[in-house]
Amino acid sequence: SARCPVSAAAAEAPVLPTRRDDPLDPPPELARIRSEAPISPLSFPDGATGWLLTRHEDVRAILADERFSADRVTASSPVRGRPPFKEEDRPGMLLTMDRPEHTRLRRLLTPYFTTRRMQALAPRVERIVADHLDALRAAGPPADLVPSFTLPIPSLVICELLGVPYEDRGRFHAWSAAALSLTTTDAEVDAARLALTGYMRELVAAKRREPDDALLGTLITAGTDLTDAELTGIGRLLLVAGHETTANMLALGTVTLLTRPDQLRAFRGSPDAADRAVEELLRYLTIIQFGTTRVAREDVEVHGRLVRAGQTLVLSLPAANRDPGHFDRPDELDVTRPPSQHVAFGHGIHQCLGQQLARVEMRIALTALFDGLPGLRLAVPADELRMRHDMAIYGVHELPVRWEV
Ligand code: HEM
Repeated sequence: SARCPVSAAAAEAPVLPTRRDDPLDPPPELARIRSEAPISPLSFPDGATGWLLTRHEDVRAILADERFSADRVTASSPVRGRPPFKEEDRPGMLLTMDRPEHTRLRRLLTPYFTTRRMQALAPRVERIVADHLDALRAAGPPADLVPSFTLPIPSLVICELLGVPYEDRGRFHAWSAAALSLTTTDAEVDAARLALTGYMRELVAAKRREPDDALLGTLITAGTDLTDAELTGIGRLLLVAGHETTANMLALGTVTLLTRPDQLRAFRGSPDAADRAVEELLRYLTIIQFGTTRVAREDVEVHGRLVRAGQTLVLSLPAANRDPGHFDRPDELDVTRPPSQHVAFGHGIHQCLGQQLARVEMRIALTALFDGLPGLRLAVPADELRMRHDMAIYGVHELPVRWEV
């Protein structure tokens, strides 16, 4: 019979595995797929068929290959609840741009996120962390560290950096939570994105009238040719990317260290140890749990499979970061591991703009937390923590803890 080979493949292609056995390990099915083939067909909830890549070398190669576009308007999402971005979301969204548009914006922003600049923020981050620890000690145990420590610290830091009023956090936390949730309807996600855009548009207009010294105001006064729509997109991206990611790394990193006392001891050994530990936590936890996507701009052969123009490729950052082809004992957390080229921040031209900031925040906040709250421990059994299976960024919904007073 004349069975169409394309639809036959579509019918057989599995969906992205998301079921975890251990809450701190990626879905075991990903390891099986990674060991069997470098590239495998994938079905998407929107009905499209595309591809899944799980090996470290391949994920990096595709992220560095300009035959694959970062476009998020035409890409399919591997999980439900992540509707594509719309045409009107494009301005300023460097995450979804290719060269040369991407280069123009990235060049404007890079000088503000250098290692040197981010290191210069360290004293302010230390102050913010110390204030939150003071408040925790004043209130006494028990506490949920998500609303009292892990979320407010990166939020306040990115607000100050951008020039966003911290009083508005209630609103933008809710919008970005709705935008990242897999259980909200597409209409709710669209509404949350629209609300974030509207909020940022008003803020940009206010900065035009009265620029300040923070980043958005500086981009206006520095004589860049950025339009208001671009400034709005940049502000929205930085605000969301700048707090949700680091917040979840802080919370999940804390859970991880609390449940592995030997690793916690090694982490607390020296400031040098803290830097390495942060990298290892980034690798081990890889909170961008469904990875990232790229869209083929032309037909490309990848390991003998024909990737058609327009097809979406899912690059599983969690699978790549546990690839035994690249890492020794990949499923072991070893906070003394030497630098290992993990892809928790991506790779290539879109590699995380905020990575130095995230590192500064994680090093300072995690160090101060374990120094500042002696005898810190979970207030519930680890298996009762509510994991963020339902969010694009993995972590815990709450982090109940106790400590000695
Ligand atoms: C890009 C992860 C913190 C801003 C990315 C990408 C990843 C990532 C994987 C690349 C996505 C892709 O190629 O499709 C993380 C993680 C963080 C973190 C794990 C925390 C631990 C931050 C912070 C900021 C930020 C604090 C803001 C200050 C951005 C921006 C991009 C980006 C603007 C897009 C860069 C571009 O397209 O050129 N991040 N990020 N991120 N991140 Fe982060």
